[in-house]
This record gives sequence, structure tokens and C-alpha cells, in this order.
Amino acid sequence: MSFVKLEAVINGLNGEIVIPGDKSISHRSVMFGAIADGITKVTNFLPGEDCLSTISCFRKLGVKIEEKNGEVIITGKGFDGLNEPSEILDVGNSGTTIRLLLGILSGRPFFSSIIGDQSIGKRPMTRVTEPLRTMGAVIDGRKNGGYTPLTVRGGGLRNLQYKLPVASAQVKSALILAALQADGESTIIEPTETRDHTEKMIQHFGGEIIKEDQTIRVKGGQKLKAADVVVPGDISSAAFFLVAGAIVPNSELLLKNVGLNPTRTGIIEVMKAMGAKITLPLNEQTSFEPYGDLFIQTSNLSGTVVEGDLIPKLIDEIPIIALLATQAIGRTVIKDAEELKVKETNRIDTVVNELKKLGANIEATDDGMIINGPTPLRGGSVSSHGDHRIGMMLAIAALICQTELTLENPEAISVSYPKFFTHLNQLKNR
Ligand code: S3P
Repeated sequence: MSFVKLEAVINGLNGEIVIPGDKSISHRSVMFGAIADGITKVTNFLPGEDCLSTISCFRKLGVKIEEKNGEVIITGKGFDGLNEPSEILDVGNSGTTIRLLLGILSGRPFFSSIIGDQSIGKRPMTRVTEPLRTMGAVIDGRKNGGYTPLTVRGGGLRNLQYKLPVASAQVKSALILAALQADGESTIIEPTETRDHTEKMIQHFGGEIIKEDQTIRVKGGQKLKAADVVVPGDISSAAFFLVAGAIVPNSELLLKNVGLNPTRTGIIEVMKAMGAKITLPLNEQTSFEPYGDLFIQTSNLSGTVVEGDLIPKLIDEIPIIALLATQAIGRTVIKDAEELKVKETNRIDTVVNELKKLGANIEATDDGMIINGPTPLRGGSVSSHGDHRIGMMLAIAALICQTELTLENPEAISVSYPKFFTHLNQLKNR
């Protein structure tokens, strides 16, 4: 097993970095480029392993995708331009790839089979396969289509009237992508608002989607037209440096081009409530996805409660919020976050177990965790457990540990942030 040894930073973190492209938007740019008519040029695409898995799957479906000078160029020929793949589609570690792909393939009149890595093999697919079957897709797989490997024979979809049992943008997006290929109008209702990149992308590609509160209406048979996409920086990647800037003494960081879609900015709300000195946006840009620069300084923090409608707006940031809470005065309670159990790892367990090894006062609950702070963190041996966000959280923890930290399996980080350690080293004051 590979590992990296990490030391505390002595003189704080200072400087600026440009945050790499948003993972959710990068996936969708390739998918929409593939199902639209014409040439889509994507700038600031995230070359993380997850998004490369999406490119590889769409190439196997016959779509021409080129990577030139840091841009991704997709030649789309509409839904009908996708061909029956002769090879198995491998989504690697990517939940977004498999779930959205299931939605697209359910409408296609051909056979395909999908696999992923060990972590994907544990992630529940029934939440997508069940409503897609209701629409008419023939899906099979392990445990009655609940887990990979999965097979799909699609085509001839009926519209869907469906209330999602869980707040999940991946499930919502899969159903919207199927609904675009179905007969008539579908209605999808989400229990709580989740990230709306799919809805924004449909409009950007010339399609129609109606959203009233949590009710979404999509007409089938729509044709999408190619459109260039500028991917903003990923706030879920910026989050690691926001927290680093807040907890490492003598730090001042400027994070550039961070996506500021309001369905994703829960981390900023929570950090502000805890007393973090974040200034935003210094330079907001209006595109179909808003973005801007964020400035963060070392801050005095106090505990807070993170719950309810805020959870989907920061679901991927909970591991790093837990670390932040270990340095805040008082109690932080994170609840209503059962979904953490079905992420790349069971993130309630991995966060609590790994932070406990460093001396944090943290306990798991059924739907989240409780952290009492502040506690100094000691070094020691910890693992990413193959989960990119756990790996980055622990690498940020190392910056304030009293002794060296050994992080097992750091390469998992390249799933969403291949340049993470390069950026971190640039910000260290020597
Ligand atoms: C994502 C949605 C979220 C998130 C994941 C990316 C997306 O998953 O955790 O990293 O791109 O739609 P869920 O929809 O399962 O909550």
C-alpha cells in the first residue's frame, strides 16, 4: 500500500490558487455535448479520474471526444447518435457517471453493460434503476439491479410522475435525462432542493425545463443544440483550502474562479456561522453558472449545527467541516446526513474513525456526527480508504498536527483533484 508522510506547516499558508474545474459540471458538459447536435467546446474541464471515466464511456458509445490544449471538444449527434457499445462501460469510482449514464442508456434502443470499481459495487443503484424500470427500461444486475454489474436494454420510455424518496442530484439528473427521451411530459419532485447543474445545462443547450419550487417538469423528444461550456472551479475542492486557511495560524488565501451556484454554497454559510473570515465574491462573474474569487484568513471559530435543507448544499464538504469543527470552540452537531453512509465510503464511519486516531473528540450518530472542540490533533497513521475527500481532509489535518502524519493511499485524491498536493505546496510559507 502506498503512503505519503506529511508535516505541519510552520509559517502559515499564503498566496493564491486557481481552483480546478467543477467535477459535477465537467461530467455533465461531456454528457450534454454527446447528446446534443453539433460541436461542444469545454474549457477548464476537470481532468480528474472520475471525469475521464465519463469521457471513456461516451467514446465507447461512439462519440468523438478530443482533448486539445486543455480543452475538451465533443462532436455530438443527438441521442440517436449514441451506438450500442461493443465493450463494457467502466465508470471506475464515479457515482455521477453511472447514475446519469443509466438515465441516458434507459432511453436508447440497445444493450449495454456497466461496471465500476469496488466502491461503486457497494453503492445503491435501486434508487435509479427502480424509477427507470417504471418508465420501461429493462435493467438487470446484481441483487435484482441494485448493484453493479448492471445491464440495460433501453428504448420506448413512458413519462414518469415521481417523488424522489432521497434528496439526490444524481437520481434527479438520471430521471431528467431519461425523461428527455420519453413520451410526453414527466414530473419529478425532490424532497429538498439539490444541485441544479443538470437543469441549468438543459437550458444552456437550448432545451426546456420548468422548475417550480421542488417540482420539475420536462417534455420528452426535445432536441438539444451544442453549446460551449466554461467550467467554473469546484467549490467542493476549494472547501479544503477554505478550511486550511481558517485553521492554520497566520494564513491568508485567495481562491480564484470558485463556482458559486447557490445550490452548492452551504460550506460558505456554515463557515460564516462559525465565525470564519471569508470575503466573497470579490470578482463575481455571471455565466450560466456563477463563479468568483474567495478570500479566507485564519479565524476564531465556534461550534454550530448543520442540518435540514442545508445538507444537500454541502453534502460533499461534511468531511472537511468535521475537521474544521475539531478546531472550533464548543459543540458542532451534523444531522440529517444519512446519505453520507452511501458515498465513496461510509463517510460517517471513515471521518469519525480517522479523526479519532488523531485525537479528535468526535462521535458518530445515526445521521451524522457530534464534535466537541477545540482539540489539538496529534499525528499518526491514517488512511484515505480510497476516498478522495477523506484523503484531502486528512492531508489538511496534517497541517496542524503536532507530529508527522502518514497518509495511506493518497492517490485516491486524483479522482477529483489531481493537482491537490502541488497547490498545497505552493501555498506553504518556507
Ligand atoms: C453529485 C451529486 C451528489 C454528490 C456527488 C456529485 C452530482 O451525490 O455527492 O459528489 O454531480 O450530481 P448525490 O446525488 O448522490 O447526493
